[in-house]
Amino acid sequence: MKPRHLPPVLVLALLSLLSLSLRRQLTPLQPPLRPAAGDPLLRRLAAVEGVGSEQVLADAAALLVNGSISTFPSLGNRQRLLYLRLPFARTARGPPRPRTVSRLRIPAEALPSDESLLASFRTSLHSFLLAHHRRRRGGTGNVASVMSSLAGVLGRRFPTCAVVGNSGALLGSGRGPQIDAHELVIRLNNARVAGFVADVGAKTSLSFVNSNILHLCASRSAATAAGCGCHPYGPTVPMAMYICQPAHLLDALICNATATHASPFPLLVTDARLDALSARIAKYYSIQRFVSDTGAPASNWTRKHDERYFHYSSGMQAVVMALGVCEELSLFGFGKPAGAKHHYHTNQKKELDLHDYQAEYDFYGDLQARPEMVPFLDEAQGFTVPPVRLYW
Ligand SMILES: *[C@@H]1O[C@H](CO)[C@@H](O)[C@H](O)[C@H]1NC(C)=O
Ligand SMILES: *[C@@H]1O[C@H](CO)[C@@H](O)[C@H](O)[C@H]1NC(C)=O
Ligand SMILES: *[C@@H]1O[C@H](CO)[C@@H](O)[C@H](O)[C@H]1NC(C)=O
Repeated sequence: MKPRHLPPVLVLALLSLLSLSLRRQLTPLQPPLRPAAGDPLLRRLAAVEGVGSEQVLADAAALLVNGSISTFPSLGNRQRLLYLRLPFARTARGPPRPRTVSRLRIPAEALPSDESLLASFRTSLHSFLLAHHRRRRGGTGNVASVMSSLAGVLGRRFPTCAVVGNSGALLGSGRGPQIDAHELVIRLNNARVAGFVADVGAKTSLSFVNSNILHLCASRSAATAAGCGCHPYGPTVPMAMYICQPAHLLDALICNATATHASPFPLLVTDARLDALSARIAKYYSIQRFVSDTGAPASNWTRKHDERYFHYSSGMQAVVMALGVCEELSLFGFGKPAGAKHHYHTNQKKELDLHDYQAEYDFYGDLQARPEMVPFLDEAQGFTVPPVRLYW
């Protein structure tokens, strides 16, 4: 049969097949068809970069251009005292004066010269800035795209995961064995497990910290402990860390430089896109809660929360990271019932003002009950929120 003799019905069928296959090829290039999750106004406000993260980038740029490192012998040449300085206080109105950004005691040997330490520090600052500028240029979908790269960073995906928060609610819970039964167990900010194993478990696969924790380790023991002794869960448990101050990249370099085979320093620095995604989600839920608690317009949120200091908690970013690598995710120790201690392992009384924990609980609640309502995660192509269970 010649083509011009094809019955019209067949021609139509062929045409529609052709257009179907064309459409299939085009689909990945088109924006998702489902409506964006959550409230559009809140999404827009939450996606605005806070002044806090602008400040971090400005600090990194200042250190890259103007930072200096000098060390001086100490303790009879057994140690060196290191100063990281900027030539001028950034906000000084009076006469300019040098500002010490960081001061560390380091071993006399085992570390490169001041010049090569500065060169390595500048290299890390440069990659840090580059990653943040790249994700800003890439727009919104680019930030969410981090979800599909996380499994690569951790080496693989995990069938079951637990993120263990530090809430005092865990005391007396007896959840230890249940937590340890997960394949990947993430703990936060080097919280102690010794003495609490029955309630919090003993297994740790990944230690998630903010860089203040590393700075504490480095200040205390950069000079005396290989790898800064920052691994309470055992030397081979990797640490994932987000950078809250660019100067902490120097701590990471020094701890890495003093690491040994017996005391290694396995460190992952969080992706710039993961930082931005976590910031957006935290801000969205904080504005939402502010609006429902006060009835004030969303744009008034900044009057309650000082944007210079507002920040997601380490626990929240660990949860977002876990969503990208886990088939099933359990959250322990995130709630705070009346009368529970703030931390199971400290006597800290007050919650820190820079986090909006209540808003973060709202996010976890949505992950469990209405994952399709979680804003920004819906921009991650090919990503579905895994089943999440919240335990006290
Ligand atoms: C570096 O220092 C110079 C001189 O004080 C200053 O003008 C400049 O703004 C600084 N650069 C950065 C990136 O802060
Ligand atoms: C850590 O140290 C090792 C060996 O000393 C080096 O090969 C590696 O590049 C260092 N990593 C970083 C991030 O500096
Ligand atoms: C919102 O902020 C404006 C000023 O920016 C203020 O005048 C107004 O009273 C605030 N509204 C509420 C309901 O707090």
